[in-house]
Amino acid sequence: MGDRTARLIFDDREIVLPIVEGVEGNHGFDISRLRADTGYVTLDYGFANTAGTSSAVSFVDGTAGELRYRGYPIEQLAAKSTFLEVAYLLFHGEMPTPEQLKTYTASITHHTLLNEEMKRLFDAFPKSAHPMAILASATNAMATFYPDFHNPRDPYAVEQSALRLVAKLPTVAALAYKKSIGQPYIYPRNDLDYAANFLHMMFALPVEEYQVDPVVARALDVLLILHADHEQNCSTSTVRLAGSSQANLFTSVAAGMSALWGPLHGGANQEVVETLERIHADGGNTAKWVAKAKDPNDPYRLPGFGHRVYRNYDPRAKILKSFAYEVIERMGANDPLLDIALKLEETALADDYFVSRRLYPNVDFYSGLMFQALGFPVHMFTVLFAIGRLPGWVAQWKEMSEDEENKIGRPRQIYTGHPKRDLP
Ligand code: MLT
Repeated sequence: MGDRTARLIFDDREIVLPIVEGVEGNHGFDISRLRADTGYVTLDYGFANTAGTSSAVSFVDGTAGELRYRGYPIEQLAAKSTFLEVAYLLFHGEMPTPEQLKTYTASITHHTLLNEEMKRLFDAFPKSAHPMAILASATNAMATFYPDFHNPRDPYAVEQSALRLVAKLPTVAALAYKKSIGQPYIYPRNDLDYAANFLHMMFALPVEEYQVDPVVARALDVLLILHADHEQNCSTSTVRLAGSSQANLFTSVAAGMSALWGPLHGGANQEVVETLERIHADGGNTAKWVAKAKDPNDPYRLPGFGHRVYRNYDPRAKILKSFAYEVIERMGANDPLLDIALKLEETALADDYFVSRRLYPNVDFYSGLMFQALGFPVHMFTVLFAIGRLPGWVAQWKEMSEDEENKIGRPRQIYTGHPKRDLP
C-alpha cells in the first residue's frame, strides 16, 4: 500500500480511501472499510471496476494487447516452453530447473490413470451429453476419491490435488469424447508427452496403431499454453469464490468449469466455428454478417470479437493467427472457414463500428479453427480451453488459500424488493 489517498465526499461527509498501487495496470481505491465507516456499499455490475483480489499470477495490459504469466510475455512462453513448464511456472511462481521439470513431469505421468470405479460415472451419462457437463461432474467426483487431500491449509494436499488434476483431466476429457462417439476408452501412455498422450487417448483405437504427429502435438501444446491463465476472468473468479469457503480444490475447479461452459466465456470458441459454418453455408458473404451484428434492432453479436479487458488485438489471437495456415496445411485440410475468418476479420476491422468500439478478435476467434484443424470436434473445444486453463485455476486457488487477507466471498446487494409486509 502506498501513501496516496483518495477523498470521497457525499452529503456533508468526507471519507479518505487509501490507494493501493499495482506494479503495472490498475491501481485501486481500497474500500474495505467503506461500509463499516459510512453504511454505504458500492454497486458494480459484472465487477467491471472491482478488483476482487490482488494477484501475482498473470497480467493483461489491455491497451497494449499484452499478456504475461508470472512476468513472462505469452509470446516467449509459446515459443520457448512447454505446457507442463508453464503449469509449473504458474503454480510455483518460477520456471522449473531441468531437475524440477523432470520430477514434475514424472509426478504428472504417475497420476494419469483414473480410478477404475470412475468409469461407471461416465456410463451413467446419455451418449448425447455435452463433454463439459461430464468434465465438471467427473472433476467433482474426483474429490470423493481423495478425501484426505481436501485441506486447503495443507501444502502437501494442495500440491497433490493440483498434480492429480493436471494429470487426469486429459484422461477425463478423452473418456468423455470416446463415450460420445461410442468408441472404447483408450488408456494413457506415459511414454508420451502431455499433449501427445492426450491426442493418443482421443484418437487411437485398440485395433490399429496410432502415430502422434509431433507438429500436431506441439500445436496443441501451444494452444494449451495460450489458455493457461488470464487474470480474474469469470471461471477463475468462480474457482476463487468457491474456494473462499474452503471448498476443496477439485470441487472449486469443477465450479470454474461450469462457469467456463457459458457461450460468453469458454463456450465462445464453439460459437465462433458454428458462426463461420453458417456464413459459409450462406455463401460466405461476411459483409452481410457484419451488418447484422451492427444492426441495433438485431440482438445478434459476432462471437469472438471484443473483450472486457483488451482494447486492442488479443495477443493470443495474434499468435494463433500467425500459425493457423501452417497447422491447417500440415493437417492437409483445405479449410474454407479460415478464409472466411480472415475475411470476416478484415471486413470488421475496416468498419468504424468495430474499430471505434475496439472490437478486435479475441482468443476464441481463432482457437476453435485450430482445434478443428487438429481433428477435435466442435463440442470438445470448450473442454480444450478447460484443460489449458486448469493450471491457472489451480495457481489462483493456491494463491487465494495462502493469502492472509482472504475471507469468504460474500458480496452485498442493493435491495429492490418489497419493504417488510405482513401476510393477510
Ligand atoms: C479468458 O481467457 O478467460 C477470456 O479471455 C475471458 C476473460 O479474460 O475475461
